[in-house]
Amino acid sequence: MKIDRSVALVTGANRGLGRAYARELVSRGAAKVYGAARDPAAVTEPGVIPIALDITDPERVAQVAAQCTDVSLLVNNAGVLKYSTFTGAPNLDAARLEMETNYFGTLSMCRAFAPVLAANGGGAIVNMLSVTSFYTNPFDASYGASKAAAWSMTNGVRLELHHQGTLVVAVHASFIDTDMAALTNAPKDKPESVARQVFDAVEAGQIEVLADERTRTVKAELSRDHELIYPPVQEFWDAAVRGAP
Ligand SMILES: NC(=O)c1ccc[n+]([C@@H]2O[C@H](COP(=O)([O-])OP(=O)(O)OC[C@H]3O[C@@H](n4cnc5c(N)ncnc54)[C@H](OP(=O)(O)O)[C@@H]3O)[C@@H](O)[C@H]2O)c1
Repeated sequence: MKIDRSVALVTGANRGLGRAYARELVSRGAAKVYGAARDPAAVTEPGVIPIALDITDPERVAQVAAQCTDVSLLVNNAGVLKYSTFTGAPNLDAARLEMETNYFGTLSMCRAFAPVLAANGGGAIVNMLSVTSFYTNPFDASYGASKAAAWSMTNGVRLELHHQGTLVVAVHASFIDTDMAALTNAPKDKPESVARQVFDAVEAGQIEVLADERTRTVKAELSRDHELIYPPVQEFWDAAVRGAP
């Protein structure tokens, strides 16, 4: 689909990658860009129309879908990362919040907007996933589980909406230079670079974006994950548990 003259809605458009998505859509000539955020006053990108939306609130999701009936491109960007292990976290609060937001929130948006997209000719859904959809790392274990669930859901939504001509794009990325990745000194992609790749893919009709080298390598190694992916993760985690410098 063409971004030019499309009508887009981006969740979590107030900061980080969501803001970069909204800016890129405006610069590519989208007719209208709705910037959804829990605090709409924080959506300050020029040319973006603020919309109040918490994606974990099903009633509000339904209201926004009823209000924004002209949307042809839905960008499910909003997400949360609590850096929580499976067995060491004090309780399930972080795991539940990540699943509620990254999986159920994104699923609610897909469900609410599927008929809107159908009415507007099919359009596209972009789901912001992660390299951690592909493998588990104890540093962000429950986040990875929520992104793996969202990856599975994205593949299913693509199958289910094929008949109505909706392109469903899965975006996987390693670290991106936003608040979410502020804790790490690992190499980070620029949000603008991810946004450009994603909308190039939408315009080219591609169903998957592997945004960086690390992500491309992990996806390529999936069939041998226990030989290639997990041993270095295990080594790193064991060293961290031992308190190695
Ligand atoms: N940064 C990375 O390294 C990285 C890598 C791979 C994938 N991702 C994914 O990229 C997406 C964007 O993350 P980011 O890096 O831009 O992180 P960020 O700077 O922490 O921004 C997260 C955004 O999601 C919003 N959000 C969180 N929960 C929400 C909810 N219940 N309803 C509506 N909005 C909600 C936040 O709104 P508030 O301002 O109200 O909190 C904020 O706008 C996420 O899905 C993330 O998992 C990030």
